[in-house]
Amino acid sequence: MRKEFTMKNTKYDFETLVSRKNTNSLKWDLFDDDLPMWVADMDFKVAPAIENAIQKRANHPVYGYSIVPDELFKSYINWWDLHYDFKMSKENMLYSAGVMPSISSMIRCLSDVGDEILIQTPVYHVFFYVIEENNRKVLQNQLIYENGCYKIDFEDLDEKLSKVNLMILCNPHNPIGKIWSGDDLNRIGELCRKHDVILISDEIHCDLTDPDVKYNPFEKSSDYDKCITCLSPSKSFNIAGFQSSIVHIKNKEIFEKVKTQIHIDNSDSCNVFASSAVIAAYNESGEWLDELKKVIYENKQTVQDYLAKELPVIKLVSCDATYLLWLDCSKLNVSSKVLSEFLRTNQGLFLSPGIDFGENGDNFLRMNIACPKTVLDDALARLKAGIIMLNIFDKNFSKL
Ligand SMILES: Cc1ncc(COP(=O)(O)O)c(C=O)c1O
Repeated sequence: MRKEFTMKNTKYDFETLVSRKNTNSLKWDLFDDDLPMWVADMDFKVAPAIENAIQKRANHPVYGYSIVPDELFKSYINWWDLHYDFKMSKENMLYSAGVMPSISSMIRCLSDVGDEILIQTPVYHVFFYVIEENNRKVLQNQLIYENGCYKIDFEDLDEKLSKVNLMILCNPHNPIGKIWSGDDLNRIGELCRKHDVILISDEIHCDLTDPDVKYNPFEKSSDYDKCITCLSPSKSFNIAGFQSSIVHIKNKEIFEKVKTQIHIDNSDSCNVFASSAVIAAYNESGEWLDELKKVIYENKQTVQDYLAKELPVIKLVSCDATYLLWLDCSKLNVSSKVLSEFLRTNQGLFLSPGIDFGENGDNFLRMNIACPKTVLDDALARLKAGIIMLNIFDKNFSKL
């Protein structure tokens, strides 16, 4: 059911489109599309506290090697305690230059070349690359898609976990935007215990939930200790460019292995600006994040209403986290690559093809809605115009 959140008297600006062209932006400068809505970063300015902290650091004109200050770890500890009642301690934490670099290191130290590693598809496409580029193999536990919602196939998971040593969980799950329930997480933990599988829980999207909803940290939902939690403020506060994250590992043996590997891979050092950004995010930008969550929720409602009224052939998959919407285009009967390319070529609109997230994603497009409302309105109009151009719906289109 739709919830109402008052957006009047907002303190921060989520309406102005900040041009990111010619800033070496992956999203805006890699390709020529008018409206890139693929890669997962936001088109909003960061919270003022982050901007100020970076400017303050930039004012000091020496940018040599940096250490990771204790304050950075404390800012993570306080944030998770305050928001999720999840207690972390510094002795279980490791700094790393991004979630994917640390997952890559974990794959190298916790599995062998040729091993299969389990992921739940459709899922963040880089999970595929990081496994394959490390000369391991992907084993898929495909999620079940039923009545417009996803759930875990636990029977299949039980069977597949018997073949692997390592599983990567996405919590909340990109691209379907699902927050796994405490019960789901506990069951995953029990199955990992049964098969003695180490679980990596990638929780990078955890703060970006609907305004009155909280995600469940894996470590709070399960007492299975062969688990690694990956955390970062990069999605929540739009600071992915600083490439900064932590991992939290209670199991001492796993901790030591991961620590050594992250060091070998040279991922344990901190960018000169990163700690300032992270600390300002967690310590001073909570109010900004609360407002952002309302803006994203409103954008989600805009998409839902628009699709229902103007483009009912496309369905929004129900979700409660991330700014990535998963659009069910199965009624169009066209592959997601063709559809995505068509929209790019004819409408300048770049949505990610669902096939990128696994073969069971091929009926879908992923749309990043972390942008001002005017941009979203433009994108929806282009989406509709593109579908009309495709001319692949019949005359009873509105009844589909
Ligand atoms: C689930 C997930 N994990 C990790 C990342 C990337 O993390 P990092 O930039 O810290 O490597 C993303 C980016 O979209 C993501 O969606």
